[in-house]
Amino acid sequence: MIPDGELLKHLHQAAHINSNSPKVPTWKTRETPEYSEDKYNFPFCTKVPTVTPSISWGKDLGGLRKTILKRRSTREYTGEPIALKELLAVLDFTYQPHHYINQDLDRNPDYFDLSLIETFIAVSGVDDLEEGCYYYAPVAQELRQIRFKNFRQELHFLCLGQELGRDAAVVLFHTADLKKAVVKYGDRAYRYLHADAGHLGQKLNLAAIYLNLGVSGIGGFFDDRVNEVLGIPLDEAVLYISTLGAI
Ligand SMILES: Cc1cc2nc3c(=O)[nH]c(=O)nc-3n(C[C@H](O)[C@H](O)[C@H](O)COP(=O)(O)O)c2cc1C
Repeated sequence: MIPDGELLKHLHQAAHINSNSPKVPTWKTRETPEYSEDKYNFPFCTKVPTVTPSISWGKDLGGLRKTILKRRSTREYTGEPIALKELLAVLDFTYQPHHYINQDLDRNPDYFDLSLIETFIAVSGVDDLEEGCYYYAPVAQELRQIRFKNFRQELHFLCLGQELGRDAAVVLFHTADLKKAVVKYGDRAYRYLHADAGHLGQKLNLAAIYLNLGVSGIGGFFDDRVNEVLGIPLDEAVLYISTLGAI
């Protein structure tokens, strides 16, 4: 029996991570060995290089400051396509922080463990990029295509009937293998994975707004249906969805 008012203390004790244990979290960066390889490589899949010029945030990061002040979640997309170079610029800013050190941004922003998080992208309307679902390989810097079709209708359904999912040019899924994460770090991994997905989401938001694209996070979705519908490996649980599109 836990006396009234003591539950939180007991929860913390139960989830305590022993500091002598090898499972203790260490902050993972691009330089840590787990992160030197992309998790998925699909033999014979179409590969699209994502190397692109980085976003220039202007003198003293003025463009970034202005973007932070004006950022809002988009409520409605036109359904028109966006340009491939816009998608690539958003990916570059979000997943390649070392490309921004000459603009005084952090080479290794604080994440819990990015090696646990994967990115899948459903493309519905990007000029010069085939519709379908792709795995984004951040180390190789390429999109690897896993499904070939327009998923607008399915995305509408997966996002609980929200039009944002249907009309977005791109719906981006951050996923993690929860079992693997819990073996590595214990139950608290769940909390930290969402913090990392949120961190990636805010970078997507800022890059998109700077490029005059619409962007919104989506927390309401059928998480148990996403994998089968889009062909995302079944071990990957969706943590967070971001939509990008024309406004
Ligand atoms: C984790 C998260 C989940 C969200 N899920 C949804 C969603 O399912 N549907 C939606 O229309 N907006 C969603 N949003 C956008 C929020 O509605 C929006 O961020 C909020 O209204 C605050 O507005 P702002 O981002 O312009 O400051 C989500 C935002 C976050 C951060």
